[in-house]
Amino acid sequence: MYIILLGAPGAGKGTQAVMLAEKLNLIQVASGDLFRQALQQETELGKKAKSYMDKGQLVPDEITIQMVLERLSAPDCENGALLDGFPRNIQQAEALDKTLAQQAKAIERVVYVMVSEGELLKRLSGRWICRNCQAPYHAVDSPPRIAGKCDRCGGELYQRPDDNVETVKKRLEVYFMETSPLIDYYSRAGKLLEINGEGGAAEVNRRIVAALS
Ligand code: AP5
Repeated sequence: MYIILLGAPGAGKGTQAVMLAEKLNLIQVASGDLFRQALQQETELGKKAKSYMDKGQLVPDEITIQMVLERLSAPDCENGALLDGFPRNIQQAEALDKTLAQQAKAIERVVYVMVSEGELLKRLSGRWICRNCQAPYHAVDSPPRIAGKCDRCGGELYQRPDDNVETVKKRLEVYFMETSPLIDYYSRAGKLLEINGEGGAAEVNRRIVAALS
């Protein structure tokens, strides 16, 4: 089962992906996390991606598509994956469809998490991330049990450099220009599930699980 989580920056894709991965026994493949890991390991790919991420722009398709498709070809994704943050434009969606079709596979469902702009800004400004396992927290809505430490792995929590006001504005602009056309793309394919992403994370998760089943 291949499922895509689609939504604006801060909509809760990462939060829901972690919860769904556990429930559905699927691997989460998050393009943003893959870039941040590469950056942490100081690889060439990480250095290239950083200049785009810092500006809130999309990393070029030739880099992104290869990285994600390579990850999807690993044995742990053989029977499915939860895609979070990929695809981000029509070219990426077409490349993904083509590669899966070559293996007689396809995207089954696209979960579109809908959240108002005001709520997105509130969520991103209070977000903290685990440096080790990337689990997201929120200073007010979902704080960790011990301040500064991840509940799951004990890793150090930090605020992403691209969560500052200016870069968030740019990321939202890029989302509306380049990513939102995917709503129509997957709706026409009969794969889109529209989910109200407002309310607590557990409530949103119940809505997604109900829609998927
Ligand atoms: P990426 O890491 O994918 O960031 P994003 O899409 O901007 O999404 P976010 O991670 O910001 O938000 P999210 O929806 O996962 O929300 P979260 O669950 O954390 O991409 C970063 C950059 O990498 C891009 O700008 C680009 O440069 C590059 N990139 C990545 N993929 C690419 C691609 N395919 N092509 C090209 N470039 C690419 O939640 C946010 C906060 O809200 C958290 O604090 C969380 O605790 C809280 N929260 C979540 N749910 C709820 C809820 N229901 N109620 C209250 N609070 C909640």
